[in-house]
Order: sequence, then C-alpha cells, then structure tokens
Amino acid sequence: MRILVILLLLAVPAAAQEAVHGGPVRALAVSGGALASAGFDQSMIVWDPELGRARAVVRWHAGAVNALAPLPDSILPGGFASAGEDGRIALWPARPGAQPARVLEGHTEPVVALALSPGGARLASAAWDGTARVWHLAGGVVRVLEGHRGNVNGVAFRSDGMVATAGFDGTLRLWPEQGPAVLLAEFGFPLNALAALPDGVLAVGDVRGVLRLVAPDGAVREAQAGARPIVALAASPGGAVLAVASLGGSVTLWEVASLRLRHTLEGPGLPVWSAVFAPDGASLWTGGTDRRVRRWNALTGRPIGPLGGEAAQDIPEGANPHGARVWRACAACHALTGGDSGNMAGPHLHGLFGRRMGSLPGYEYSERLARGDIVWTRETVADLFTRGPDVVTPGTKMPIQTLGNEEDLRALLDFLEAATR
Ligand code: HEC
Repeated sequence: MRILVILLLLAVPAAAQEAVHGGPVRALAVSGGALASAGFDQSMIVWDPELGRARAVVRWHAGAVNALAPLPDSILPGGFASAGEDGRIALWPARPGAQPARVLEGHTEPVVALALSPGGARLASAAWDGTARVWHLAGGVVRVLEGHRGNVNGVAFRSDGMVATAGFDGTLRLWPEQGPAVLLAEFGFPLNALAALPDGVLAVGDVRGVLRLVAPDGAVREAQAGARPIVALAASPGGAVLAVASLGGSVTLWEVASLRLRHTLEGPGLPVWSAVFAPDGASLWTGGTDRRVRRWNALTGRPIGPLGGEAAQDIPEGANPHGARVWRACAACHALTGGDSGNMAGPHLHGLFGRRMGSLPGYEYSERLARGDIVWTRETVADLFTRGPDVVTPGTKMPIQTLGNEEDLRALLDFLEAATR
C-alpha cells in the first residue's frame, strides 16, 4: 500500500487547481520570494504570495508535515526543508518535484521543529525521540544533542550561532560546540515553541500561554500572551517584533524591547499553529485549523486576506447551529459529503452512523482503525470523543481531542446525524 501511495505522490502544476490544505496548517516558511505552508494533510504547498496562488503542491511525507525552514542559496536557492511525523527531513528546490533533492534521516520519532543557522551552513531539528540534531548542509558529521527528558519541541540558533532547544521537560538548553550542554533556564511547565531574537535573547512559549524572553545571562522577562497554549513564535526580520500564535485562536504581536502588546489579530477563532513574517517585516502570514494561510498587515494588525481557494464547507440547511460550530474543529480534516476524501487529512464522514470503523474504500487508515471492530453510532462516536481517540482506538492517526462539555457533544451528534445522512 505504502509503495502505491508513494507512486501517486504528485507535484501538481498549481494553475490546474485552487490549492487548499486538507487539514490544519502546521508550518510556514519564507524563502527567496516564495512562501511554503505544510500541514496535517501530509502536503506542502509552495505559494506565490503576491498572486496568492499555489506554484506547487507536494505530498511526500508519510504523515503530517510539522516543520519548514528556508534553505540557503549555497544549497538550494529559494528552496525549503520540510520535516514530518515520519521522522524524515526533506530538502526541496524552489520548484519542488515529486521527490526531494535530499533526505536527512536519523530521527526515530516525529520531527516538530527546524531552524537554519544565521550563516545558513547548518540546519537544526527537534524531535519527539528526545533529541535535537544539527546537520551540516554541505555534508559532514551530524551532531546528536541528547539530554532532554521527553519530547524536544523547539530549536533555534541564537544570534551568536549557538544551538538552543526547548522541551516538554520545561527546560531551555544551550549546546556549545565543545563541552557539555548548558541548562539556561528551567520552568515548571512544558515549552512548545522557541525563537531567536537579537543580542542572544531567546523567546519561549509554554503550555499555559506564558511568553518569556531569556537573556544570555539567564535573566527572564515574561508576559501572559493568552490563556491557551502557545504553539508557535515568529520574530520579525530585524527582531523588533515577535508574533505569538496560540491554540486559543488569536495571534498577538509584541514589541520585543518593551515586551508590550502591540496588536491582537482576530482570526476565525480556531487554533493557530504557525506564523512567519514577510522578508520586509510589513506582513505576517499565519496558518491554523481553518486550513487557510492568512495574511496580516504587521504594522496595523489588520487582515489582508487568505491565500488560495475557498476552504469553507457547505453546512446543510436545518443542521443544529450549535453543533455546526463544534463541527468547525472537525471540518479541518473531514468532509461531510461522500465520494473521494481528496486531500483531506481524515476520511469523509458521509453515511457515518451505521458505518463500520475503517471501512471507507480508498482511504488509508491506521492499522488500528482498519481492524474495523467498532460500528459508528451516536453512542460509539460519543465514547470516542469522551474518552478520546487515543484511549478508545490507541494507535489512531486522529489527533487527541475530547469534548468535555456534554452540551457540545450532544449538539455535535445532532449535527452529524443530519449532516452525514
Ligand atoms: C487534525 C485532523 C482531524 C481532526 C481535527 C478530526 N479528525 Fe477525525 N479523523 C482524522 C483521521 C486522520 C482519521 C483516520 C484515523 C485513522 O485511520 O487512524 C479520523 C477518523 C475519524 C472517525 C472514524 C471514521 C471511520 O471511517 O472509521 C470519526 C468518526 C472521526 N474521525 C470523527 C471526527 C470528529 C467528530 C471530529 C471533531 C470533533 C474529528 N474527527 C476531528 C483526523 C481528524
């Protein structure tokens, strides 16, 4: 099956279609006048940001694409590095074909962050195998950075060239070329995102929405950026402004010198997973659960508009409106109508009630769902989102999510009953 899928991985000529991601947009990067986005739908889209159109859509990773970084001109001008749930890092030219120019292998669990060194000679990766790695792009020995307890979630090159990592263990570590690692700071909560700022300052975001700026001497300044986990940080080209993206759905822009909140960007209220500034610092792109890449005026905080085709789904008339709102989080990965699931990250849910788990022809399920030992009913779907997909169907590809609120759950089931029929 895997071989068949690999053979089908296409680099679609973009003009032929209105590109849109089939799942949350998890990563963004800018390189040589192009913008790349990547997501849970396993694809990467390279955009012409001025025309708002896709130049190429690539599906190559076996699993979600979690991270992107620009590549230096000396390696692949205008190219990108992508890293995925499959533990692999691929190096792509500016106009990617179906196969990458090079693949960096070594991580054994999902890679979740990438960073390019200031001079462009090195690429660093952070992974859930508990390590970070430093790859010399011209070739040479790969450095494996070991020491975090658990997932390494963030990696950055400090302005002095030193590699820094942030982890689930709440620690911020530095990795000098020679000698042992340095524990720069330790916080009580998991750290999700890391970015480098001028003068050796590092920005870290944690699961409780706390933003911290850590100076080279370990001095910390902090601000509450929201109530929900921070999942991405992006520094403006000069490093004067920091964008903070959160699962709460808003993106905040901070003045680094004063740590003052400049703007709150009000999007569709769905989790935002990624952000990157344009090279001139005047606009900011964000990507999230609404599957869109949105553009903002970074100076005023106003929206400029999303790229690509329309991602909205037709909500059937008469469907429970409360349930339709809850459904918006599912719509990132699932279609309601039948036929081909297209590039959507999840199978379509048409005819869901009465359908056997893992039974949609043509969709590549995880082994757990392919076993088909559950029939979807109001009760079994309720159970799936009460105990969580990771508990009910361990090994599933569907990300962990539960509905703690009984009213939301009931409304979602009412909505599904009408909308999947
Ligand atoms: C980030 C993507 C994503 C989101 C968001 C998501 N799902 Fe899924 N869902 C998947 C994937 C991927 C699968 C297939 C899992 C597998 O094969 O293990 C799946 C499978 C399912 C199945 C089983 C379908 C079958 O054919 O057996 C149901 C039911 C389902 N999802 C319902 C929902 C509902 C309801 C929501 C919102 C509360 C939701 N999903 C949100 C990705 C997602």
